[in-house]
Amino acid sequence: MDADAVAAEALVAVEAASSVAELDEARVRYLGRKSELKQALREVRDRETGMALNSARRRIEEAVAARQAGLERAELDRSLSEERTDITFPGEAQPRGHLHLITQVRREVEDIFLGMGYEVVEGREVETSHYLFDALNMPAGHPTRSPLHTFFLDDDVVLRTETSPAQIHAMEARKPPIYIVSLGRCYRRDTADATHYPIFHQVEGLAVDRGLTLADLKGTLLRLLRLLFGEEREARFATHFFPFTEPSIEAYVSCFLCDGTGCRVCRHSGWIEIGGAGMVDPNVLRFVGYDPEEVTGFAFGWGLERMAMLRHGLPDIRALWENDLRLLEQF
Ligand code: DAH
Repeated sequence: MDADAVAAEALVAVEAASSVAELDEARVRYLGRKSELKQALREVRDRETGMALNSARRRIEEAVAARQAGLERAELDRSLSEERTDITFPGEAQPRGHLHLITQVRREVEDIFLGMGYEVVEGREVETSHYLFDALNMPAGHPTRSPLHTFFLDDDVVLRTETSPAQIHAMEARKPPIYIVSLGRCYRRDTADATHYPIFHQVEGLAVDRGLTLADLKGTLLRLLRLLFGEEREARFATHFFPFTEPSIEAYVSCFLCDGTGCRVCRHSGWIEIGGAGMVDPNVLRFVGYDPEEVTGFAFGWGLERMAMLRHGLPDIRALWENDLRLLEQF
């Protein structure tokens, strides 16, 4: 074979390769194991032919390496100019979450009471019947002792139906004066409808001190109502019954939609029911070893969903549990 002719042909092919893949093809064709040149090299018998063939091989190898470097540089130039990242290009907005409406209300209520010198304490979602019923002065046969109303985990262990047992834990853990609130989930065997849901949240408040009266309770609740629903709000209290308070009251706030003139939300009464409260029953104080002659207390327990629904005109409590972002994003 004519080594120079093969080399010349190979150099043309190498120069003509316009991609790394094409160059590789040319390399295999002219330098591969089965190439004419490699075969000739295997069969070479004399020094002169060997030198000519090796010189041709070297020239082709050098051309391949040079072409390879050129192609790689061109490829780098291309990607640097075409794939350049434009750092001034506006980014893709990442959706950002926010707190659930109930969490917002919960924190707001906590802040209000922290501002009045109260401490926020944790309650227990799982209680014993001792704390949920006995210590709260619930007589045998009280309806919430029934598994029709309350989720029993076994004969004695229940999901709390109200945050009130937190009062008992707080009184057992501290000595008066006590000013605490406790917020969290409660559970009742209720069928879900527009105003009921088997899980809901309450805020429980408890104050125990020397000389506390119903007037202190009313003043505290009025403050809370005004901070939640507006400074112009008035409060009204009606007698009620709870086993753990005596006397017991139900608090009403003047309607913030119609300002008391009567509308759909206040059912044309001008007043909206907010929740229960009362003076801690002496039996409850005695139960935790306090002397009702020495200290008195007041307590209240209100629903957070109800507060949220009233404030935002939400017609259905279920919306707070369905996690439909179209609704939740509005708050
Ligand atoms: N635990 C009551 C309920 O769930 C609400 C309540 C009423 C709590 C009066 C209190 C209270 O602390 O004093 O209906």
